[in-house]
Amino acid sequence: MIQPCGVRLAGTGSAVPDTTLTNNDLARILDTSDDWIAQRTGIRERRVSAGAPDPVFNLSCLAGQRALDMAGVKGSDIDLVILGTVSGEMLCPSTACRVAAALGATPAGAFDIAAACSGFVYSVNVADSIIRAGRAKRVLAIGCDAISSVVDYTDRTVSILFGDAAGAVVLERCDDPAKGCRYQTMSADGANWQHLYMPYRPDIVPECDRANPIRLGNLRMNGREVYKFAVNRFREVIEDAFQKTGLSVDDVSQVICHQSNARIIESAIEKLNLPREKVLVNIDRYGNTSAGSVGLCLDELNRAGKTPDGQPFIMVAFGGGLTWASCVWDK
Ligand code: ACO
Repeated sequence: MIQPCGVRLAGTGSAVPDTTLTNNDLARILDTSDDWIAQRTGIRERRVSAGAPDPVFNLSCLAGQRALDMAGVKGSDIDLVILGTVSGEMLCPSTACRVAAALGATPAGAFDIAAACSGFVYSVNVADSIIRAGRAKRVLAIGCDAISSVVDYTDRTVSILFGDAAGAVVLERCDDPAKGCRYQTMSADGANWQHLYMPYRPDIVPECDRANPIRLGNLRMNGREVYKFAVNRFREVIEDAFQKTGLSVDDVSQVICHQSNARIIESAIEKLNLPREKVLVNIDRYGNTSAGSVGLCLDELNRAGKTPDGQPFIMVAFGGGLTWASCVWDK
């Protein structure tokens, strides 16, 4: 029989590469400008791996170790490693397997989740469910992407958006059932996958995209369609989280949003009347870091004392798939 339990957020960690790529750096290699990028996206600079080897593995290990350190536990105390990523260096083995081994977590279970920018929130939701089901006591959940290694830097419509980052949490079983994920959603609309995809074979490229130059293994995006999807879905997902939990914006410490575009976040802030101090926007410094973004924000807020114990926070994300997800976390 499963004993009711809660899930404690024991530690957070994050990591970004050392190299900064500014809008002006991009304007030197592309027909673009600091003004265009800043006005359309809110991005000023991003961190990129710049050819460093194994970026998803290395950033995930760094963020994971920082989360373990904050939790005061060792890799050998972890039962399961879940890594949300779509830019790992290999499909087989999963990057999670190598991260678990490097952190000393062997023989913990390990697997990747491919949910693009929703990858961190999917990972946390799955981790919470597995702990509550009694299948693991302590889980390391990570979101990491190094999209800079899978974008075509001759394509100004995609390359300007992305940076690299990892965010991680240690989640552990606790006796207080009120702690942990109070409400979660994980959704997808695979019928619209072609708006954001990374082809590895030419025959998968949809008819509508065949006239454009294709680089296999690189991210392709229909920015306008993704924007329309995101701007509506973002608001709906946040509204749904408040409605289903009966919480008001006064009750939560933060609404932690995937950093896709400052205008998309701004639209949610305005339509839902969210207080600005409760919605971190760090896209100006990091760009869109895909699965890294929500965990990176969570770690920044947690270390600044802005997710106090006793107050819930909300995490929301959307991305390729198309996917979207939310999590209301009782800390
Ligand atoms: N610099 C200068 N001009 C540019 C650039 C650039 N980098 N990119 C495009 N343009 C030009 C276009 O060619 C176009 O010119 P035209 O009017 O002469 O045809 C003009 O600027 C406007 O282009 P749009 O594509 O309409 O620009 P838009 O305002 O839609 O902004 C953007 C583009 C920023 C990509 C926006 O659509 C967006 O943010 N979309 C959402 C992306 C997103 O959130 N992705 C998240 C998911 S990622 C994941 O899951 C891995």
